[in-house]
Amino acid sequence: MRKLYVFGVLVMSFLLTAGTIDLANLFDYEQLPFPNYLRFDNTPANNPITNEGATLGRVLFYDKALSLNHTVSCASCHQQVFAFGDTARFSIGFDGERTRKHSMRLINMRYAEDERAFWDERAATIELQTTQPIQDHGEMGFSGSGGQPTIDSLISRLSSLERYRILFPLVFGDSTLTELKMQRALSQFIRSIQSFDSRFDEGLIEAGNIAAQFSNFTQAENNGKRLFLQPAGLGGCQNCHSAPAFDIDPLVHNNGVTSNPSNPTVQDLSNVRSPTLRDMIGPNGELNGPLMHDGSMTSLMEVINHYDSIPSNIGLDERLRGENQEDRVIGYSNTQKRNLVAFLETLTGSNVYTEPVYSDPFEPDGSITIVEGTSQTRASSNLRFEVYPNPTVDYLSLSLPREEYHVRIYSQQGQLVLEQNVQGPLDRIDLKALSKGAYMLEVGSINEFAFGRSWVVKR
Ligand code: HEC
Ligand code: HEC
Repeated sequence: MRKLYVFGVLVMSFLLTAGTIDLANLFDYEQLPFPNYLRFDNTPANNPITNEGATLGRVLFYDKALSLNHTVSCASCHQQVFAFGDTARFSIGFDGERTRKHSMRLINMRYAEDERAFWDERAATIELQTTQPIQDHGEMGFSGSGGQPTIDSLISRLSSLERYRILFPLVFGDSTLTELKMQRALSQFIRSIQSFDSRFDEGLIEAGNIAAQFSNFTQAENNGKRLFLQPAGLGGCQNCHSAPAFDIDPLVHNNGVTSNPSNPTVQDLSNVRSPTLRDMIGPNGELNGPLMHDGSMTSLMEVINHYDSIPSNIGLDERLRGENQEDRVIGYSNTQKRNLVAFLETLTGSNVYTEPVYSDPFEPDGSITIVEGTSQTRASSNLRFEVYPNPTVDYLSLSLPREEYHVRIYSQQGQLVLEQNVQGPLDRIDLKALSKGAYMLEVGSINEFAFGRSWVVKR
């Protein structure tokens, strides 16, 4: 019974239905597993992700009370099923007004070198971004102008709601609700949204080197990867959308997509940011919404055709200019174009679309219940252990403190594929039954309520 209990804590939290937040069994946002090849983490020292903070952020993110007439939440325009983006070219705000630009997917924002936000990077940090939609005249309606109330009026509205009278003190120690605290909690939740279970990740973990042929890729995908990694002058994308995060270079200028949806007679040269190129396509193969700031592109092929031949403008990034400031023409062959598209399609994950930690915590009728829960025990993820060799072929050795442990191995899709008890300080697991690929290994101590995770690769 006890054995199951340690993991039971984790599993139970997944079984909780929408509409209830159990304070004794919060989701574990602090230790979401991510691969070790990422180079940036823009989490500020004064706002690390905590389980309490990200939980409050999740409630705020899905709360329609954040809009003037209680009709839209952040999630109305940033929908989990579309990688926290929107399939509409322009999203609909609280009173039916359309946004001026296309809604951005919120994936892996934490792992981007550039921590500024919005297509034109007008917010200096994710924190500062998060309360701007609330104060946007058309999005959520607390702009303080044109007859709209200010955010202070929203703050007093939220202060009177029971959920926030419990959650704000839980996170910040005192019950005063402020814009700064909302920013911190919303950013913690947004930074927790991550997607690293794509076929690209599987290939990279296995190959250990991005330039190598990935054994789980088709020839077309491998060729597309090679094209992507070329210098920009040869038509590569890596210079500006750097793998493996595929985040945008902070110093980039515009990419030649210059239309201004709110005023078609002038060019808009200010769009110098892009969401990660991951998860542009959903697991069903459909685009998670049109692409670029103006939502003007409705397929990946259209994107490639754009980069193949770009009309010059005064703000166009150097890397996209032709010699002597002429328009640049790369001249990809049709096969090369198809290869690039095939590669971009490997950047789609699966968990983020269904993961309960990111899901709507409200009941369909808008209610939510915060409960103290019965169990006071939470597994804390502080177990240190080593696995070797990694990558491995048949066996994996585990080096652990002297104790008994329960090991679970999950596929990239989150399916439990192997379960076994091991004994510290040294034990072995037979992986012969597993097929080649990358797996998430989870080790839980049976007595200490501690656990740890690691990626392992079977060749
Ligand atoms: C009515 C639709 C709508 C609502 C509601 C909305 N957003 Fe957005 N969001 C957008 C659009 C459109 C953009 C791009 C706007 C721009 O760049 O000018 C955006 C951009 C963002 C970005 C920047 C992403 C990046 O990579 O730079 C973040 C973060 C974000 N929104 C978070 C939120 C949060 C948090 C809320 C709720 C408090 C919210 N949004 C509410 C439509 C919306
Ligand atoms: C010189 C830098 C640069 C290079 C090189 C570059 N891009 Fe971009 N990319 C950008 C900028 C800037 C944006 C934001 C443009 C906008 O929306 O106005 C962008 C946006 C995009 C988007 C839209 C993302 C979204 O979520 O809507 C896609 C897709 C894209 N680029 C793919 C590529 C591909 C594929 C290549 C290589 C063939 C490439 N880019 C090369 C700078 C670059």
